[in-house]
Amino acid sequence: MNVELSEAERMALLRAAELGRAVAGRTSPNPAVGAVLLDPAGRILGEGATQPAGGPHAEILALGVAGEAARGATAVVTLEPCNHTGRTGPCTEALISAGVARVVFGVSDPNPVATGGADRLSDAGIDVVADAAPELRETGALRPWLFATAQARPFVTWKFAGTLDGRSAAADGTSRWITSPAARADVHLLRDLVDAIVVGSGTVLIDDPQLTVRGVATDNPDELSERQPLRVVLDRRHRVPSTARVFDESAETVRLDTAVPRFALKALFDRGVRHVLLEGGPTLAGAFLEGGLIDEVIAYVAPKLLGAGTSVLQDAGITTVAEAVTLEVSDVNRIGADVKIVGRPLWPSPGEV
Ligand SMILES: NC(=O)c1ccc[n+]([C@@H]2O[C@H](COP(=O)([O-])OP(=O)(O)OC[C@H]3O[C@@H](n4cnc5c(N)ncnc54)[C@H](OP(=O)(O)O)[C@@H]3O)[C@@H](O)[C@H]2O)c1
Repeated sequence: MNVELSEAERMALLRAAELGRAVAGRTSPNPAVGAVLLDPAGRILGEGATQPAGGPHAEILALGVAGEAARGATAVVTLEPCNHTGRTGPCTEALISAGVARVVFGVSDPNPVATGGADRLSDAGIDVVADAAPELRETGALRPWLFATAQARPFVTWKFAGTLDGRSAAADGTSRWITSPAARADVHLLRDLVDAIVVGSGTVLIDDPQLTVRGVATDNPDELSERQPLRVVLDRRHRVPSTARVFDESAETVRLDTAVPRFALKALFDRGVRHVLLEGGPTLAGAFLEGGLIDEVIAYVAPKLLGAGTSVLQDAGITTVAEAVTLEVSDVNRIGADVKIVGRPLWPSPGEV
């Protein structure tokens, strides 16, 4: 296969990744894919991003915009075009019948039912460039979906806010607000990207959070976004009353009473959830960490000291420094008065445990 990309194709891959990011959280159980069609001179003929499940995939939208001009064009897509009929037809057949001459895609599709797209396109005489942007596996909108598809459970981002000395609440139980308004606004941007927000019963009983996306679409910090992630309360003993704000009308909510986070994640996967934002609290986060079920950590650290109070993370079954979960930090940013740290736990490989 030809792995040489033109400058226009490189730019189109970046643009396709941007288009995919714009629909993150809106396409599950399908991946958030972006596509760009280029004419032989490298000019954009059409663009698209995958629509909510049952709607058209990115390639189909881009082909629709390009119309007849798609004949002889190059399709640049973040993910290998699908080769199966689900709720929509295979993208490979649409690309072939539109007369596309070349397809460049960022990463291969690991989904056993949709894979084979590259071979089908090559067999039809199309010039295919596979895995042109392997970095999309680790960054961007496809990452949670690729992980979830391979592991048959949602990708879990654990977000917490704490003081510099690792407290999420003071000795008297007060926790509002440890972090600055800018950090809290950033959390709404995170929620906007995920399929579901998960909390434990303790957080709901103490804080009574609404767990909605607000203030993202407009400058009004209270305005609810049209699309809301599923709200999930892990409540084994059914202690949370139905009057809790998390059960209000602003979004869908499920209560799960399984005692094992892995089974809760499996139930969410079966509902189409591919990316979970775990928002605590410390007891539930400890249970997820102990189960090796945290794939990304986003910490908002306030430059404050409390000296006493609840830790951001309760018992995770770790008793000695040698067992500490180490994070590979990918990003550190100042946000308002606080510091945002993004990292990935470095779990031992199965052979090391
Ligand atoms: N700063 C932050 O980022 C942040 C975020 C969230 C919360 N908080 C703070 O955390 C405090 C609440 O702490 P918390 O530890 O009680 O809250 P939590 O972790 O949200 O809730 C703990 C409860 O979750 C339930 N649960 C359900 N499934 C579980 C499982 N598999 N493993 C463990 N627990 C499970 C348990 O109650 P059942 O046995 O009844 O099911 C458990 O007592 C509040 O003060 C809140 O302000 C801080």
